[in-house]
Amino acid sequence: MVSRTVFFVIILISECGRIFAYKRKFPNNFSFGAATASYQIEGGWNASDKSENIWDDLTHNTNLVVDKTNGDVACNSYNLYKRDVEMLTELGVDFYRFSLSWSRILPTGFSEKISDDGLKYYNAIIDNLLEANVTPIVTIYHWDLPKSLQDLGGWTNPLMADYFADFSNVVFEAFGDRVKTWLTFNEPLVFCQQGYGGMGKAPALNLTGVGEYLSAHTVLKAHAKVYHLYDENFRPAQKGRISMTISGQWYEPDTDSPEDLEAALVAEQFDVGWFGHPIFSKEGDYPNAMKERIMKRSEEQGYTKSRLPEFTAEEIEYIKGTYDFLGLNHYTTYSVKANGETNFVEPSFEHDRGVKVFQEATWPSSASSWLKVVPWGFTKMLKWIRSNYANPEVMVFENGFSDNGTTDDQDRINYHRLYLNAMLDAVDSGCNITAYTVWSLMDNMEWLRGYTELFGLYRVDFNDTERKRTPKSSAFYYRDVIKDRAVEHVKNKDDDDFDISLLL
Ligand code: GAL
Repeated sequence: MVSRTVFFVIILISECGRIFAYKRKFPNNFSFGAATASYQIEGGWNASDKSENIWDDLTHNTNLVVDKTNGDVACNSYNLYKRDVEMLTELGVDFYRFSLSWSRILPTGFSEKISDDGLKYYNAIIDNLLEANVTPIVTIYHWDLPKSLQDLGGWTNPLMADYFADFSNVVFEAFGDRVKTWLTFNEPLVFCQQGYGGMGKAPALNLTGVGEYLSAHTVLKAHAKVYHLYDENFRPAQKGRISMTISGQWYEPDTDSPEDLEAALVAEQFDVGWFGHPIFSKEGDYPNAMKERIMKRSEEQGYTKSRLPEFTAEEIEYIKGTYDFLGLNHYTTYSVKANGETNFVEPSFEHDRGVKVFQEATWPSSASSWLKVVPWGFTKMLKWIRSNYANPEVMVFENGFSDNGTTDDQDRINYHRLYLNAMLDAVDSGCNITAYTVWSLMDNMEWLRGYTELFGLYRVDFNDTERKRTPKSSAFYYRDVIKDRAVEHVKNKDDDDFDISLLL
């Protein structure tokens, strides 16, 4: 009898061991969150004294959004933020990353008039979060510029750096007693390249080959100005941290040829490096690959100087090191080939970059044409950051998968399981990663894709005036990952053969 009991105890212990052996633990103090952005969820586009921003303008006055929708109501988080906080509690996240609508807080765009209702709205969210034990992480700018400031040139106007600092000053004063993690900008590459250099985001100016570089130049100065503002005037009392969150996708060389390796290096520098090198590298300034290529193309095209503006030595120093951690938004991977395509618009970012970027047909897809499931690219991206930027603390502020909105979203679960493992592979190799964020807490207005590509852990019924939210299977999955502080082990493609030094 005794020996039978012992036998069963042994079986039980080994069974538990088996289960736990397949789970990978996250580092101690690792934190988990979910993200949203003001225009994509709030609605209340003309509530109280809020003025129009560039997304209100674009959605109301152009046909660029595929399903002809807008963010007038979106998820109606302007009214339903308490339910949002409840959802965050259901998930058990440590933090919530959300953004501020500039034209809701400063209706003229300038700080001479501050909206009481605007402040009240964000104060309520912050207070509700803190009460629920969820840490607020605030993005100051997630793409919704007041239209009044766009009319003055938007980010191509160098004075925008001052206006942005004025806006930031207002929000540090208003919320900094309770908000301890700040992000100046969300993915500047995306809104500069697609909004100024193309038509893929507001303000859709299509100033190819010039607009993207001009706007990025101001954004980098604006970021640095606000970092220093916080550092000098607010940090001593508020004791928070501030950085930028940049988009970084992985660029895999198509072959091992030196030309393809060089092409992948160039593509990465035109991506992460554009904003990463000036801020996070030891040397500062734009990456050489960008400076050289854009200079060469500009000369060939007969410009009197490079279309990439130059920083002065003083500006390089002022921008360099303006971070307390590196915010990374990562979704997917591309293959890169040297040459191969010659029909680029001239001048343009793509022509300046001058490499062929594509995705393999075998990579699993999502509802977004650009988003393929390539988890090992995430590991490589993180290792690249470790090697190029002296192993900074990395906080992953976006990672997510789009589908058509099904509530039994097994493909999303699969994506996160694979990407969490890929991230842990990077942790195992010595990357200093401290946070992971799912994009997004709930289905929302996906910019020019409207409501056709949905990323939420919660489904939002956009046909229901109540905008009812329902947890999808992925919400329960993420809740369990957070509860266990562990994810089941999945082996991603073995990348032992990958020599990161080739891309340094
Ligand atoms: C990011 C962006 C988010 C969201 C996501 C999914 O680039 O920051 O706002 O739209 O992509 O496409």
